[in-house]
Amino acid sequence: MIKKILITGSSGQIGSELVMALRNIYGGENVIASDLCPNVSEKIKASGPFEQLNVLDKGTIADVIDKYKVDAIVHLAAILSAVGEKNPMLALNVNIKGMLYVLELAREKKIKRVLIPSSIAVFGPTTPVDNTPQETILRPTTMYGITKVTGELLADYYVANYGMDIRGLRYPGIISNETLPGGGTTDYAVAIYYDAVKYGKYECFLSENTMLPMMYMPDCLKATVDLFQADFSKLKHYSNFNVGAFSVTPKLIAESIKKYMPGFEITYKTDFRQAIADSWPNSIDDSCAREEWGWKPSFDLDAMTQDMLKVIGEKHKQGLI
Ligand code: NAD
Ligand code: SER
Repeated sequence: MIKKILITGSSGQIGSELVMALRNIYGGENVIASDLCPNVSEKIKASGPFEQLNVLDKGTIADVIDKYKVDAIVHLAAILSAVGEKNPMLALNVNIKGMLYVLELAREKKIKRVLIPSSIAVFGPTTPVDNTPQETILRPTTMYGITKVTGELLADYYVANYGMDIRGLRYPGIISNETLPGGGTTDYAVAIYYDAVKYGKYECFLSENTMLPMMYMPDCLKATVDLFQADFSKLKHYSNFNVGAFSVTPKLIAESIKKYMPGFEITYKTDFRQAIADSWPNSIDDSCAREEWGWKPSFDLDAMTQDMLKVIGEKHKQGLI
């Protein structure tokens, strides 16, 4: 029975919503939010503990684990693909060293469960692009992808050699409306909704027919919580579950927005992120996640578009964006 969960990188796009989802299940006091950045939202501050924590500082991670008697860790702190290509050594350092400290402390302190997300960035230009299988070629060309493949292999090493419970899933691009994404290649799929509401138009940094797998945040939270709570003894994979929801291009998202905002306009001006997107799959085969822990997404593109426009439209009316 898990009692105290530490979340690293909790102020990011996923962490800011996952903290609240886990606090609703495990209780506010039992989910310790932590991030390098000391600025924390009122919601997270008011609903449970927060610690400023650099995952490159092993001593402080150890102190926080001891202080709260942590018995599970969700390790989200990372540098994403676009920022990682601008600063590859930072991505290497944070993503590998930070993860290694978490794994080593989990081993030393007999932490019961660790969840570490991976990404579709583990795939590369030689991977089959359509319905990309669970087991396939992993030769990414980004530093971010290299750190994520290494992370998956390290996690499986700790499972195999130390008998630890470590889980992970390869998120596709995550689309949400609470916290802006932290510098990935799929960020356009969030920015397009904000700009649609604010300006009625969007200039996209990927080309119109760039197809990528995506997922709406409620499904991301469901997938994460479901894998976190899955019976480990029933899993055949551990750190690397493919999870999919739907695949889209900028043009398809624009068409979906136009159904509700007929005047919306999109233009295209590609940048360095196009090459990253071109190295990733079009769509994902997530049958192992479906079979092993019952994964099933709820949102498709149009359902997500309606919800995104409603929530972001409300924020705009209130002057929050
Ligand atoms: P994000 O960039 O929004 O948030 C990352 C957080 O980590 C930030 O709040 C940042 O301040 C923090 N951080 C950075 N360096 C740190 C350090 N040294 N110590 C402590 N905290 C530090 O990222 P996210 O989108 O929330 O991603 C969370 C996880 O999910 C990452 O492992 C990421 O690779 C993975 N993932 C995300 C997506 C996506 O589309 N959002 C897709 C695939 C995988
Ligand atoms: N959304 C992430 C990125 O674009 C994929 O891991 O970096």
